[in-house]
Amino acid sequence: MSKILVTGGAGYIGSHTVVELHNAGYIPIIIDNFCNSEKSAITGTERIIGTNVKLYEGDCNDSRFMESVFESEENISGCIHFAAYKAVGESVSNPLKYYGNNVHSLVVLLDTMRKYKVANIVFSSSCTVYGQPDALPVTEESPVKPAKSPYGNTKQICEAILKDIMESGENIKTISLRYFNPIGAHPSSNIGELPIGIPNNLIPFLTQSAIGIRGELVVFGDDYDTVDGSCIRDYIHVVDLAKAHVKALLVLENIQETNYLDFINLGTGNGNSVLEVINTFESNTGIKVNYRIGPRREGDVVKVWADVKKAKDTLDWAAEFSLSDSLADAWNWQLRLKNQNEK
Ligand code: NAD
Ligand code: WQD
Repeated sequence: MSKILVTGGAGYIGSHTVVELHNAGYIPIIIDNFCNSEKSAITGTERIIGTNVKLYEGDCNDSRFMESVFESEENISGCIHFAAYKAVGESVSNPLKYYGNNVHSLVVLLDTMRKYKVANIVFSSSCTVYGQPDALPVTEESPVKPAKSPYGNTKQICEAILKDIMESGENIKTISLRYFNPIGAHPSSNIGELPIGIPNNLIPFLTQSAIGIRGELVVFGDDYDTVDGSCIRDYIHVVDLAKAHVKALLVLENIQETNYLDFINLGTGNGNSVLEVINTFESNTGIKVNYRIGPRREGDVVKVWADVKKAKDTLDWAAEFSLSDSLADAWNWQLRLKNQNEK
C-alpha cells in the first residue's frame, strides 16, 4: 500500500482527503502544526475510517523536521500539500505571514521531496488565480489575473514555482488543483470546517447565524449584474473535492514522463447566487435565515464558476453532491458542534 504525505491533513479539506485516501487503499501520513486546526479533527477522521492515522506534529517550514519525517517513513509515494494560511483579509494586513508560510513551505517540501526522490505532488490552488474571468465558465486556459490579495498572490507564486521546477527538468510531477468554493462537511458529521473567530466565508457565517452564534448575515450587495443582483460562486462539497485528490494521485502515478505539470479546476460547473444559497438553506432546514442586504464587499469577484471538462477528461472525476446536499451537511455539522459544546 502506498504512503501519501498529507501536509495540513488536520485541516478542513485535508481531513476529508485523509478519509478518501484511506477508502482508496492508501496510507495517509499527516503533517500538521495545528496553527489553524484542532486535534479533534484527527479523532473525527479516525472515527470515520475506524483506525488510527499516523500524525507528525510540526511545521512544514522546518526542513530538519520535514527530513526527519521522510527519513522515518520509507517509501513515501506522493505528497498532497494543503498546509497554508487562507484568510484573505489577514493576508492584506500581514502579508509576510502569508508569503513566509504559503510560499516557503512549498519550497521546503519540494526540496525534501527531491532529496528523498519522491516525485508526485498534488498542490492546493484556488480559483482566486483567475480573478474576475472575462468568459464563463472559466477554463484552465483563462489568464491568471493580477492577484487582489497577498493570499491570492501566494497561490500564483506557488504555481509559478511549480512551473519553473517543471521547466528545469526536475523529476517532479505535479497537479495543481484550483478549488472553487469548498463547503459542507463529511455526511457523518465527524469532521467539518472549524473557523476560528468570526467567519469571513458565506456558509460558516450562515450556519453560525442560523444556530444563534452570530447576528444577522449581511448579503454583500444585490445590485450586481446577476440573476438576482447578488454574487455568484461555484460551491463544491468538500467530500467531492477530497475524492478528486485521490484521482489526481492516480493520474500522476500513471504518467511515464519524469517531469509533468497540470492545472485543473475543481468545481461543480454550476454557479449559485448568495440569495439562492440562502433560499436553498431555508427550504432544506425550514429555518428562516436572519439576513439583510448590505453594501458590496470591496474586491469581490461578481461571478465565477468552473468549466469542469478538464477535470472529467483528465481525472475521470465530477462532483456528485448538490448544493442542497452540501448545505444539509454544513448544517448537520453545525448542529454537531453545538451538541459537543453543550456537553
Ligand atoms: P485549513 O486552515 O483548514 O487547513 C490547513 C491546515 O494546514 C491546518 O490544519 C493548519 O494547521 C495546517 N498548517 C498551516 N500551515 C502549516 C505549516 N507551516 N506546517 C504544518 N501545518 C500547517 O484550510 P483548508 O480550507 O483545509 O485549505 C487547505 C488548502 O486549500 C490551503 O492551501 C488553502 O489555501 C487551499 N484552498 C482553500 C479554499 C477554501 O475555501 N477552504 C479554497 C481554495 C484553496
Ligand atoms: C462567497 C459569496 C460574498 C460572506 C474566498 C476567498 C478565495 C477562496 C474561497 C481560498 C461572495 C458573499 C460572504 C458574507 C456574503 N479561498 N458573502 N456575506 O469570496 O468566493 O472566496 O473563499 O482560496 O480565495 O477569497 O468566498 O465565502 O467569502 O464569499 O454575502 O457574510 O458570499 O460576497 O459573493 P469567496 P466567500
